[in-house]
Amino acid sequence: MQDYSIKKLISREEIDRRVKEVACEIDKDYIGLAPIIAVVLKGGFVFAADLVRNMKTPFTLDFIGASSYVGTESRGDIKMTKDLDTPLKGRHLILVEDIVDTGQTLKKLCRLLGQREPESIKIATLLLKDIERPFNLRVDYYCFEIPNKFVVGYGLDHNERHRGLPYIGYIEE
Ligand code: IMP
Repeated sequence: MQDYSIKKLISREEIDRRVKEVACEIDKDYIGLAPIIAVVLKGGFVFAADLVRNMKTPFTLDFIGASSYVGTESRGDIKMTKDLDTPLKGRHLILVEDIVDTGQTLKKLCRLLGQREPESIKIATLLLKDIERPFNLRVDYYCFEIPNKFVVGYGLDHNERHRGLPYIGYIEE
């Protein structure tokens, strides 16, 4: 039994509009560069699917798995659950994430992937939590800044539930 409710925060229409705008920004910035779009699993998969379908610039798609959360709590340590298949040397990499909270997941991934000598690494995230980030992380593209609440839907989960919701909602206990 679910002992919480989900309140709508961002509608499907607002998401569609912003994802199109961000896809357009990426198109402008990557003309002739054929970036690698690396989807950070699992939560980034819905955003990435909509993002790439709105992009016109050619790209290589890849997936990287990282996990840090159990329930609504960050464990602090990051586990890489799947590595990229594409060699990064000399390539332009865009990491596509569902949400940047503390920023530690992406900070660690950027440090690790930077050792493979990509030409550049940028970050595109659907959501950015409005908190002071202890990790100094540059976020290049984001769709929405949101209050410090635990959100689900449009790829984001709570203990693997609610990823399929078409909108973004927050959990109210
Ligand atoms: P960070 O390392 O603290 O930035 O956390 C990033 C990761 O934690 C995201 O990729 C999500 O998997 C997960 N996460 C953080 N906040 C939320 C949330 O509000 N809902 C669902 N997952 C979250």
